[in-house]
Amino acid sequence: MSKVIKGGTIVTADLTYEADIKVEEGVITEIGPNLSGDEVLDATGCYVMPGGIDPHVHLEMPFMGTYSSDDFLSGTSAAVAGGTTMVVDFCLPDPGQNLLDALTRWDNKSTRAVCDYSFHMAVTWWDKPVFEQMETVVKEKGINSFKHFLAYKGALMVNDDELFASFQRCAELGALPLVHAENGDVVASMAAKLLSEGNVGPEAHAYSRPPEVEGEATNRAIMIADMAGVPLYVVHTSCEQSHEAIRRARQKGMRVYGEPLIQHLTLDDSEYFNKDWDHSARRVMSPPFRNKQHQDSLWAGLQSGSLSVVATDHCAFSTEQKRFGVNDFTKIPNGTGGLEDRMPMLWTYGVTTGRLTMNEFVAVTSTNSAKILNMYPQKGAILVGSDADIVVWDPELSKTITAEKQVSAIDYNVFEGKKVKGLPRFTLSRGKVVVEESVLKVEEGHGKFVARKPFQAVNKSLSTWKDLVAPRPVQRSGIPPSGV
Ligand code: URP
Ligand code: ZN
Ligand code: ZN
Ligand code: ZN
Repeated sequence: MSKVIKGGTIVTADLTYEADIKVEEGVITEIGPNLSGDEVLDATGCYVMPGGIDPHVHLEMPFMGTYSSDDFLSGTSAAVAGGTTMVVDFCLPDPGQNLLDALTRWDNKSTRAVCDYSFHMAVTWWDKPVFEQMETVVKEKGINSFKHFLAYKGALMVNDDELFASFQRCAELGALPLVHAENGDVVASMAAKLLSEGNVGPEAHAYSRPPEVEGEATNRAIMIADMAGVPLYVVHTSCEQSHEAIRRARQKGMRVYGEPLIQHLTLDDSEYFNKDWDHSARRVMSPPFRNKQHQDSLWAGLQSGSLSVVATDHCAFSTEQKRFGVNDFTKIPNGTGGLEDRMPMLWTYGVTTGRLTMNEFVAVTSTNSAKILNMYPQKGAILVGSDADIVVWDPELSKTITAEKQVSAIDYNVFEGKKVKGLPRFTLSRGKVVVEESVLKVEEGHGKFVARKPFQAVNKSLSTWKDLVAPRPVQRSGIPPSGV
């Protein structure tokens, strides 16, 4: 059974043109004018783009004494409702846990996914077994990216020598290190001081993690990646201090990628000063939302190319879960949702305002992630042979975001009341129509794990260069007698 997407304008990261697309057995088999097939999807008036890739989500994630509420079924359903056809989740071993055991848990959870997915592995502790298991993770499990937390002291945080050791291991394996960049020691100490002074509300979460702690940790991670000779991916880049560090590193020729979130681009720190405790607590995440100047910096980074991708860090906790921290902001589970809203929000606030071109939109929501994470052009492309993960985007469809109508399992939405213009008419996951005229038609378990190969071009170049300039002893002819 073939499908043809007819009458639309194809928009990719580098081209805009009119053509039809033929899809057979989950892949794109033809692109051109006047195609025919068994089933026709009318794309008149629409932009036909690679489905979104969200490179940073946490579905059913064990965290701060609970689990994030969207699992692989509700989370990926929310994703496709908003035009995202692939998510990359984080496998989080408990400190001391075998990486491969943790992966078994993630494999079991993800069988319910309705669209394709992949995993990053987190390095939450360091010892010889982790060093060894990293090789199996890369060579046998199709995971070539490793996340490191510089925050969450006493839980997921690693220190600098562990970070350097793991980054060097990533260099050897041709893998990409990721970093959550906040100085966890300073955050923990400031949080304790704030609490002791009676600052117990959600606003104190923001007080305890100012932009400076993010900027310092980003600079530190960049330096350590440079010493190890690996590229670096900085997750949830939220402020100018961190962006500035990334920008400077890139100007020096380093391969450092920054990932702003749609939440940081469109919501600001005034949310933490709302008189309604629930309203503020629902928006507690790390790093916290920032002021308008930081938002402008993030938009500028997407425009100029110093920031690479837009993610959500989707980690949805219900109001009931947020209330664990009623008298102590450090107990509010950190995380916000956004999977369903990332594409419509970025289109509305980016493309319709003229801040981003349509091609830049495709680059930062899909293609750049596929390239950086080494799954291009299987994903992130409209090319013959690519997976038919496609969104038929209707720029005239609009809605007001409400929790009542969302697919996500939680009871609120941080974008509540925002009007968005630009929504999927159809979403296709490997050729299957999973959204049709805003109606979900998902199939539990349709999603497949996407294995990714190590040793991307960037790693190869970096290791070649590192080897070329490695310290070598000077060969001397005349050696002075000792003791002189
Ligand atoms: O607050 C956040 N970001 N929660 C999810 C876990 C993480 O740090 O990415
Ligand atoms: Zn993080
Ligand atoms: Zn995260
Ligand atoms: Zn299927």
